[in-house]
Amino acid sequence: MSVDREVALLPGGFRLDVSASRLSDAERAEILADPGFGRYFSDHMSIIYWDANEGWHGACVTQVRPFTIHPACVVLHYAQGVIEGLKAYGRADGSVWLFRPLLNARRFRKSAARLALPQLSDDLFLASLISLVQVDRAWVPTNDRECSLYLRPFMFGAEVGLGVRPSPRVTYAVIASPAAPYFPAGTDGMRLWVGKYPRAWEGGTGSVKFGGNYASNLVAEIEAKEYGCDHVLFLDDDGCVQESGTMNIFAVTAEGELVTPRLGTILEGVTRASVLALATAHGLAPTERRFSFEELKQGCISGKIREVFAVGTAAVVNPIVGFKGPQCEFAVADGLPGPQSRALRDHLLDIQYGRRPDPFDWMVEIPDLAQVKGEEPR
Ligand code: COI
Repeated sequence: MSVDREVALLPGGFRLDVSASRLSDAERAEILADPGFGRYFSDHMSIIYWDANEGWHGACVTQVRPFTIHPACVVLHYAQGVIEGLKAYGRADGSVWLFRPLLNARRFRKSAARLALPQLSDDLFLASLISLVQVDRAWVPTNDRECSLYLRPFMFGAEVGLGVRPSPRVTYAVIASPAAPYFPAGTDGMRLWVGKYPRAWEGGTGSVKFGGNYASNLVAEIEAKEYGCDHVLFLDDDGCVQESGTMNIFAVTAEGELVTPRLGTILEGVTRASVLALATAHGLAPTERRFSFEELKQGCISGKIREVFAVGTAAVVNPIVGFKGPQCEFAVADGLPGPQSRALRDHLLDIQYGRRPDPFDWMVEIPDLAQVKGEEPR
């Protein structure tokens, strides 16, 4: 089988409708030379449909193109939709890998359950990613500048109607976007604004990866910029640290504790879990617990807290060098990025790009489509 054929069946069982308007090699190369984040999209997308009668059906990889959506589509009015985010990493030897995709599959199901959307199996979730990356493999950056192919699975209530009820029809899709890190490495670090907007509360949707959380953060992000900060730090009702809205938060103490807020109202980050797992290799004791902004502030001022950093799939690991709020402003340690955040960032990226051993077996290789079928790559 060749991907030049009009219609074919992919190894994961997805039907392939080859896009009639793929970009040329030269156009793609120009994009890959400076992809930024989320600005460009590969030629294809994966799609699976669900309805209450048939269940999941119609799995295919097809041309990336606008959806035709009725103005009364459920997701437009009642936000019944969830997302995921993960990356395909291209290595120096030409191989392509995913990082812990089953954690994304699991989180996607949890998010879907909270928003009364149907459950997608690990197998279908994985096949939707692998099939798309196999077809659009040429879109995986290989320029050794921490670039990757960012994959965005998402699912939405597709029924037409204004009644508030779980949509009996759902569309699941994956799009792929060549991407540099959300924040470039080697920056001077970020300053976070501690503003007035709450993000989440116990029993709410704080741990769900869905657009509503990001939309409700925008006003706080605008406020942060107005006060000269880069992003927001959200606190709970008791003044305890939650997350930044796009990243999980870590603090390193002088005693070598690596502290991060416990799960509940925050996103269950894949990078968060991975940094916790790598901590001991860096002489750090991982601890998940509640800690107040007051503890953070006093720790930064007294020197008990040596470093603060924020992590996420898109963002990787980023140092936080200062905080500002209505009644306070302080630096973390000497106000410069610290060594542990750099070391953990490098460790993670080295595993992802195959430059260091992967003792946890986190990486999943995507077989080349041509090799799967015993053919020459096109
Ligand atoms: C991710 O890290 O994958 C996210 O979804 C965050 C978003 C700001 C790009």
